[in-house]
Amino acid sequence: MDSTLSARTFARLVATALMVSVPRANGQTDAPPPRARVAAESAAGVKATTDASGETLRGAVKGRFLIGAALMSRQLNDPKLTDLVAQQFDCLTGENEFKPASLQPAPGRFNFAPADRIIDFAQRQNMRVVGHTLCWHNQSPAWMFRGADGKPLARDEGLRNLKGHIDAVVGHFKGKVIGWDVVNEAISDEGDEYLRNTPARRAIGDDYIIKAFEFAHVADPGAELYYNDYANEYAGKRAKTIRLIRELKSRGVRLDAVGMQCHLKLSDPDGPEQLDQAITAYAGEGVKVVISELDVDVLARGNRGADVAARERAGANPYPGDLPPDVAERQATYYRRVFEVVRKHAGVVTRVTLWGTHDGTSWLNNWPVRGRTNHALLWDRALQPKPALKAVLGVLAAP
Ligand code: XIL
Repeated sequence: MDSTLSARTFARLVATALMVSVPRANGQTDAPPPRARVAAESAAGVKATTDASGETLRGAVKGRFLIGAALMSRQLNDPKLTDLVAQQFDCLTGENEFKPASLQPAPGRFNFAPADRIIDFAQRQNMRVVGHTLCWHNQSPAWMFRGADGKPLARDEGLRNLKGHIDAVVGHFKGKVIGWDVVNEAISDEGDEYLRNTPARRAIGDDYIIKAFEFAHVADPGAELYYNDYANEYAGKRAKTIRLIRELKSRGVRLDAVGMQCHLKLSDPDGPEQLDQAITAYAGEGVKVVISELDVDVLARGNRGADVAARERAGANPYPGDLPPDVAERQATYYRRVFEVVRKHAGVVTRVTLWGTHDGTSWLNNWPVRGRTNHALLWDRALQPKPALKAVLGVLAAP
């Protein structure tokens, strides 16, 4: 209980810190490298950021699906990082900037600047942007669904706040984002329990999910709409997700894809196999799949899911320096298996987004244990390509 509370507080502190420390988009300090500079530097620096062949992820996917990364707006101050991102990815997700606590910290007080900065960068690099997320129980301000006494708001007030947020936010980004994670992590992790008992659900009722999708569709009929969750490759959540898909469809709600976060672990060898089965199951329900937050954790963690509130107080930190070659190879094999599954489901999986860019930016350096050195992504901290990148490019190059 204590750790849950402190985690929530921590999440809020992170959000607050982001909002105050991120410089405003004033076009001066924020300017990312213009496209011409990226191109010129990539000719010289190609070995530093791609594999030996010089192939990039962005080139290798050949338009079969989008290849994305999550980033924070303040990372746009780092030209090495922006060069890597512009060369390798064609789609961005704001890691925190589009969350309710970032965008509307107080009723009617909107803070669009950090998210707009990501949009500006993406547009200049001809990249798409995905909005994450309109309704979530974390990194969301308490006022939205709770009164000053902490009790749930009445249904009509909760609905008004949900609609007000979605109208303003989806309206602001209309035509600038290709789609929205409308609701994040609404399904319960507990055995037979279907929906998580979130503040939105307590105020509005079970149909808050349907309402959120309806509001989002009206606010931008051109945007794709996703339901996003973690651990939905595994059987328990898969069945509940199928129930939700059917409920949304029976109400005539637009649902384009299930977002599968895919915070996978090297110690879970069946991850790719479960992913394969889940994609087949979701496709059978008539929806697409986006892999929305991919990483492959190399450290031990008790948690199979990705509940940001699930903190662990201690955990081994065995690789504070470089990742040993044998572990890097095992991780490469794991990534290869994931991308083989993606290729197998061509036309169903419309996007794969990595949750971060290089290992130094991964949230797994601080979750579920704070202050470890994780190595979950395709580039290392020095922005050098890892064996995992080579493995992914190999899968993408195969005929
Ligand atoms: C994480 C961010 O990466 C962190 O920077 C932040 O402190 C907490 O949230 N599932 C999600 C993402 O849907 O929004 C979470 O992102 C990771 C788990």
